[in-house]
Amino acid sequence: TARAGTVPRGLDFTPVRPNTLDQVTVPDGYRQAVVIRWGDPLFPDAPAFDFDHQSAAAQARQFGYNCDFAALLPLDPLGLANLLVTNHEYTTEEFMFRGYDAENPTEEQVRVSWAAHGMSVLLVTRTPSSGRLTPRFSRHNRRITLHTPFEVRGPAAGSKYLKTSADPTGTRVLGTVNNCAGGVTPWGTVLSGEENFNQYFANADALADPRLSRYGVTGTASERKWERFDERFDLTKEPNEVNRFGWVVELDPHDPTSTPVKHTALGRFKHECANVRVADDGRVVAYSGDDERFEYIYKFISKGKVRKGDSKAARRHNMTLLDDGTLYVAKFTGDSPPEEIDGTGKLPADGRFGGSGEWIPLASGTKSFVPGFTAEEVYVFTRLAADAAGATKMDRPEDIQTHPRTGVVYCALSNNVDRGLAGKEGPTEANPRVDNRHGQVLELTERGGDPRALTFAWGLLLVCGDPESPDTYFAGFDKSRVSPISSPDNLAFDRHGNLWISTDSEGKLAGYNDGLLALPVEGPERGHLKAFLTVPRGAETCGPVIGEKVVTVCVQHPGEVDGASADNPASHWPDGGDSQPRPAVVAVWREEGGKLRDIGG
Ligand code: FEO
Ligand code: CA
Ligand code: CA
Ligand code: CA
Repeated sequence: TARAGTVPRGLDFTPVRPNTLDQVTVPDGYRQAVVIRWGDPLFPDAPAFDFDHQSAAAQARQFGYNCDFAALLPLDPLGLANLLVTNHEYTTEEFMFRGYDAENPTEEQVRVSWAAHGMSVLLVTRTPSSGRLTPRFSRHNRRITLHTPFEVRGPAAGSKYLKTSADPTGTRVLGTVNNCAGGVTPWGTVLSGEENFNQYFANADALADPRLSRYGVTGTASERKWERFDERFDLTKEPNEVNRFGWVVELDPHDPTSTPVKHTALGRFKHECANVRVADDGRVVAYSGDDERFEYIYKFISKGKVRKGDSKAARRHNMTLLDDGTLYVAKFTGDSPPEEIDGTGKLPADGRFGGSGEWIPLASGTKSFVPGFTAEEVYVFTRLAADAAGATKMDRPEDIQTHPRTGVVYCALSNNVDRGLAGKEGPTEANPRVDNRHGQVLELTERGGDPRALTFAWGLLLVCGDPESPDTYFAGFDKSRVSPISSPDNLAFDRHGNLWISTDSEGKLAGYNDGLLALPVEGPERGHLKAFLTVPRGAETCGPVIGEKVVTVCVQHPGEVDGASADNPASHWPDGGDSQPRPAVVAVWREEGGKLRDIGG
């Protein structure tokens, strides 16, 4: 039971205990229900899901696989009708098809996977007395797949590096892949990061190009063998197709006929996300992390200014803001002597991991700031430009979110088990542990609170793991009172300014199921982390949306544990019995005495 004065505002719930149950576990007094699952129809003509008789045509009209990011865009002041926009990050064919032969997938299996990637837009509604969200057929419903045309915009549109035989203009790409996290813009569109695009492209070894290997594009046949059914995935046939992925995309879900955009001005890397903040003068700033071990944190400052209002004309204008501006990468400097950062996670003598930092400019429009790189090369081969600029190698930058009131920027650094390995970089003050299995959460305060600032202060808010372990830190809060956390991934704020964190420990690093946790970042309870829910076995918790009455999360890859497959499922969530696991969106709400209550009191 809570002691008086110790319950942070909006976080009055009994924490869920770490567990390995094959279910979504929520606090006492809360209810939860699946909103939509992989394969559920989005259109009246879509067939009902049939695991043993899948087709690409059906999948293109159904909810895709492995939902990651989610946005809920309210269509009315009460938030009873919302557009649910989700990413479908990747496919796991072993779980999708019984008896799957990874060496010889059928063409139809490959086509199902193309249709299962991308994004979904879906109308969901609820009644005033319940948090249960019901999917609806509507004119807004939409599927984005590997065959949806995208417009390439910004300084690298039409670049020689983006031209292919199917698109000699270098401005029109079919599809998006590996869309991980994202962001909702102040003008009501959705940004989505193309993350691990490298895995889809075959025969990189034949090209022996360091620009490919720097992005992890290596090897011969690809994992999914898509190159057998579409030459654009074979680098020896279409060497530039790979350069058309790894961007931030923007979708206007309010206009179902709109063409989504790939914004080259934000650079090309394994974009986890992009989140936008508007500066006092109306210019917009977008933060994005490159999620891989020893990669960087970036920000973009627009040249143009945001136009207010939610007219279509305003939205069209605002969708051009991410096409022209300056791209920067972050350098972090610690304020403690390097010898005090010993790799164990032990706090240095000044009692904190922190310091200062700067944003190093990479390119602006057609101007490059990196010697040896044209601007075009900075945008298309951003990782190599950031290497040359001397940016700081981080422990897998995942989601980045700005506190809605204080403007402080939060970044989840998921983990990095290679930190300190032979031949790899050792501990630094922002990444202080070797063999970092549990990650950290970083706070970044732009100078003067101005998102356009080019210098900042930073500190670690959390050094994650088991609170009983001496290598963890919870903003100095009493560790006997916090929930354990491993591998922070997605971030969200509630209306009180509490930070919510979903986790992706890859099933192995933590030893218990992933979940969604929350903590205050201000006041006497700062650091008081509490677990709000856990997801089923083998699943990752993604895309949290924290509303006043409803919390939604995406349950990605339930049952994804070593040795499992469709022939040997490790989870039967959500349908139970001996069913196959299905990635799904879940809504959680609090109902007492037939009345819908606020989340967290
Ligand atoms: Fe797809 Fe960075 O997690
Ligand atoms: Ca320090
Ligand atoms: Ca992620
Ligand atoms: Ca992750």
